[in-house]
Amino acid sequence: MITSRVSGKIILFGEHAVVYGQPALAVPVNQVFAEAEVLDSPRAGIWINAPDIGFHEKLSRIAPENPLATVVEAVFAELGISLPPSVLRTSPPEGGEKDGIEIKVTSTIPIASGLGSGAAVSVAIIRALSSYLGNPLDDEKVNKIAYEAEKIHHGTPSGIDNTVVTYGKPIFFIKDQPIELLNVAKAFTIIIADTGISAPTKQSVADVRKLWEKNPQKINALFAAAGSIARTARQSIEGGHPERLGALMNENQRILREIGVSCRELDHLTEASLRSGASGAKLSGGGRGGNMIALSTKENAPAIAEALLNAGAKNVVVTEIK
Ligand code: PMV
Repeated sequence: MITSRVSGKIILFGEHAVVYGQPALAVPVNQVFAEAEVLDSPRAGIWINAPDIGFHEKLSRIAPENPLATVVEAVFAELGISLPPSVLRTSPPEGGEKDGIEIKVTSTIPIASGLGSGAAVSVAIIRALSSYLGNPLDDEKVNKIAYEAEKIHHGTPSGIDNTVVTYGKPIFFIKDQPIELLNVAKAFTIIIADTGISAPTKQSVADVRKLWEKNPQKINALFAAAGSIARTARQSIEGGHPERLGALMNENQRILREIGVSCRELDHLTEASLRSGASGAKLSGGGRGGNMIALSTKENAPAIAEALLNAGAKNVVVTEIK
């Protein structure tokens, strides 16, 4: 049996604008993760079992546009395998040749909430399956396959989610550019709070596109402002001044509200965190629900986390970015 565990992520700055070529910053969140296990199965064929979502199906019976099926097929294609996997094993398993494999996927990352659930599941499957098949794919290939699945989840993804979860490190990301790792000079604390509202990124990305088509000049100016916030944030992080990020988060949140991807619950939680001592707060990811993030000192984090729960957050995670 082969297992792979992949962390979730948050976007610190630049979501949505990143789809239009602006830079964005994202970091892994190790407190939540997806896991894939690949094991021999007595049943013929390739089975995908995702008990969290009540899904257990044979690959040949899954619709081709399903992202789980897409990554499995892409791994076989990348490895140039068209034969049943049992044929490729050097020695048959104990008890004779078995002719099926089961891919079991579990995840503690809430779905459609901006924490990278879809990308983490894809990367976990790609890593576990390619290792099981005796040829673990490198990060670049893993990232490429996960991006294909992101297209199904998101429509027109920038690629930031699959990249940050593949590399598992803080990144400065520009679409279609080589990835740049962020050097976090001084650790800082982020509190992540879940509105409990599941909001598909595909929808918010499509709505932003409509807005952009209607008024490209105005929206491009907002995206450019978000891009410049992301660049300044990078300097603050790499220069050892994370305390400067609070004001930048508030500014980024104003832009996200203006492009219509915040919502009452996200606004409510950001305000609650600011009232209880956070120095900045914003939604994170696609918006319209999902998670918000707040910047805090380590000492104040428990009080802010409690204030967020009192304000209606369904779950709170405190994470150290380093
Ligand atoms: O998957 P989410 O909800 O974290 O959103 C990803 C960030 C977006 O910029 C909204 C979309 C994208 O593809 O970059």
